[in-house]
Amino acid sequence: MNIFAHRGASGTYPENTLLAFREAAKMPIYGVELDVQRTKDGVLVINHDEKIDRTSNGKGYIRDMTFEEIRSYDFGIWKGEQFAGEKIPTLDEVLDVFRTTHHMINIELKTDVFEYPGLEDDVIETVKSHDMMERVLFSSFDHEIVERVLKKAPSNEVGALFMKILVNLDAYGQMLGTNALHISLVAAKRESAKKAIKAGNKVRVYTVNTPEDYDFLESMGVDAVFTDYPELLYRHAFSKRYEC
Ligand code: G3P
Ligand code: MG
Repeated sequence: MNIFAHRGASGTYPENTLLAFREAAKMPIYGVELDVQRTKDGVLVINHDEKIDRTSNGKGYIRDMTFEEIRSYDFGIWKGEQFAGEKIPTLDEVLDVFRTTHHMINIELKTDVFEYPGLEDDVIETVKSHDMMERVLFSSFDHEIVERVLKKAPSNEVGALFMKILVNLDAYGQMLGTNALHISLVAAKRESAKKAIKAGNKVRVYTVNTPEDYDFLESMGVDAVFTDYPELLYRHAFSKRYEC
């Protein structure tokens, strides 16, 4: 089962910052996940929330701020004094971190609250400018953008993210045109997840932070997990593989 570092190594470093991504880039894991938003002046930046209040010393919506303004805020100190001075990264900067590594990069398009029209075009153009399309897996809770990216990046996997528990995940995925289904840990423990795996879908689960859940999901045939503690789950997976 593959491991993605959720928002970078976000359990130990401030989420979605270069510190968290550089740490993930050192690990022998499958990939990393990150969340893309866009500033008022069109810069692609990495942050989970639409607002910067929770993860910085600033306040307000990213879409209402210029890049210059958002870069003036501290995105590290909320996690600990030792991380003070960390800035919000751009998508360009994060792609640079993984330029020479083996990791797959799951770019989550955060258009499920604000639409950010044309975000997928900006993201695809940026990834292409780094010549990294074959290393990228897209995903979103916004299934309209999933549908568009499936057409605009036909060689890439595009995961449909789900918050809710669906009755027939497989049929929904087929209707949308994807077999990459990214579901919550709660949903993964339901019958529909088992059926979707049996039907041949790639089911990936967020957010998985314990070895017990890792083992359970692996035994189900889940393709990958997103974790805030990639070092912990990797060590666990490694020790399982080599135990006598
Ligand atoms: O892509 C997996 C996971 O990141 C989805 O949820 O809210 O952490 O972006 P969220
Ligand atoms: Mg995410």
